[in-house]
Amino acid sequence: MGDGLRHDLDALRKEAGLAVERAESLEALEEIRVRYLGRKGMLTRALRGMGGVPEADRPAIGRLANDTRDEIERLLGERRDGLGRMAMSKRLLEEAVDVTLPGIPARVGTKHVVQQVLEEIEDVFIGMGFEIEEGPEVETDYYNFIALNFPKDHPARDMQATFVVNPEIVLRTHTSPVQVRGMLKRKPRLPLRLIAPGRCYRRDPADATHSPVFTQVEGLAVDVGVSMGDLKGTLAEFARRMYGPMTRTRFRPSYFPFTEPSAEVDVSCTVCGGSGCGVCGGTGWLEILGSGMVHPHVLENGGYDPGKVTGFAFGMGVERIAMLKYGIDDIRLFHGGDLRFLRQF
Ligand code: DAH
Repeated sequence: MGDGLRHDLDALRKEAGLAVERAESLEALEEIRVRYLGRKGMLTRALRGMGGVPEADRPAIGRLANDTRDEIERLLGERRDGLGRMAMSKRLLEEAVDVTLPGIPARVGTKHVVQQVLEEIEDVFIGMGFEIEEGPEVETDYYNFIALNFPKDHPARDMQATFVVNPEIVLRTHTSPVQVRGMLKRKPRLPLRLIAPGRCYRRDPADATHSPVFTQVEGLAVDVGVSMGDLKGTLAEFARRMYGPMTRTRFRPSYFPFTEPSAEVDVSCTVCGGSGCGVCGGTGWLEILGSGMVHPHVLENGGYDPGKVTGFAFGMGVERIAMLKYGIDDIRLFHGGDLRFLRQF
């Protein structure tokens, strides 16, 4: 009894199995599921025939219907997994990367030549017991000028073409303000030895030897009994370390408001060694820095007693030192950002 229905269910299972086998996508599988197993699907429809099945056969037919449903679901699940695996291998194939191909090399930067030379200068002075101090690039008129013995309207201010922010604020024209800041921070500590590297700004038109942005290193030593001899010895040693053991130094009298006496320092020409050439203009000497004995007013402004201590100071332009070291003839190259220039160092 119920053979017709049994037969229908069997046919249904086969038909669904075939459809599943042919399905090429998850969407197609879902359609098949709805078509055969959905609430209004073929299985439900087939079971409408249950009414005509004798009572005794119904449990067996019911089991068969359940088995049929389970079997179709199992086939759907298998096919779903199979399609998933196929999709995955297709993707893997399409997205395969040949890891043995050469890569695109990352361009590694280099330290800017000014920074390299600056670090060389720092190393020499750190070796002599100096410590590094930094100050602000936007500076007060007080630290940039007044504390260094440049009163308002003093003609010495004309030497420093200043970017003025307002009457009290300037872009620092030199690193000398860090002398006073450094002293105030450390007073009454002795001995005091510091170097202050950093950017400075002047309202100069740019040409081969002038740039509105440049780098200086300031030096300051304060202690009981510091003399001009200490200054000369320190800078002569610096020149030898920087330019080689045969380098000679020469001190020429000069003027700065914050030192007394003041001197400009030359080194024997790094190109010709002193015999005279184009680089040194035939003189055999190259000017590299300004220096002097710290003026008593400056010591006072730094919180030290000029009756008890003395000090020396110096300041140099790092670009100039680098130009002499590498034979660079135009200061504008340093801040022009041309990689063809910068990559040479
Ligand atoms: N600050 C000076 C300038 O930029 C350079 C200088 C000269 C610094 C003499 C010093 C010094 O410390 O003693 O022109």
